[in-house]
Amino acid sequence: MEYITVALAKGRLAKKAMEILEKAGISCDEMKDPDTRKLIFTNEELKMKFFLAKAGDVPTYVEYGAADIGIVGKDTILEEGRKLYEVIDFGIGRCRMCVAGPESAKELLGSGKRIRVATKYPNIAKDYFTNVLHQTAEIIKLSGSIELAPIVGLSEVIVDIVETGSTLRENGLAVLQEIVPLSARMVVNQVSMKMEQERIQKLIADIRAVIGTDN
Ligand code: PRP
Repeated sequence: MEYITVALAKGRLAKKAMEILEKAGISCDEMKDPDTRKLIFTNEELKMKFFLAKAGDVPTYVEYGAADIGIVGKDTILEEGRKLYEVIDFGIGRCRMCVAGPESAKELLGSGKRIRVATKYPNIAKDYFTNVLHQTAEIIKLSGSIELAPIVGLSEVIVDIVETGSTLRENGLAVLQEIVPLSARMVVNQVSMKMEQERIQKLIADIRAVIGTDN
């Protein structure tokens, strides 16, 4: 039997996702050692391998088949635009992709005026401004602390993730438009889905049994 390999996005989501997998009988004790420098973990009984990767790289591993399965945020899935099957909404890490900025920037949206948009998600931002707002936007790619951009005059608005909204509030900014709700998802390589149909469908069913069938 071949190994089924799972790529998990490093960080907050990975731990919660592993807890759900564990409840579904898909565990990996090796991975729990906080001091380990190992990159890939194996469960020989299940014939499964697990590894952690930068979120943005997870869809790449899955599209190329280096991982059969990925667990990653919907924000990354949308941004990367890879050819994958999205099969489960884990319902964890719920937040929203938004256009945000000072209230005064609201009138700029959809106005046809040129606008500068700072973001970690250039593809999502470009798509929203072009296809939803029909507005020419200069997309300025940043790597973090996006909220700074409108404060220091780098851009009029930002496209970013909003969870509690406190980062915006504490910086005098607000949600101006909501683009899409987000949460952690399971994605599957398109060939693996056919070649390992039985095993992957069983994994999906076992996980759904833990998180509820609506997902
Ligand atoms: C994310 C996001 C916002 C913040 C939203 O940043 O980019 O800045 O969290 O959360 P809130 O609505 O609960 O305040 P993250 O902490 O991942 O770091 P970053 O700024 O470096 O991207």
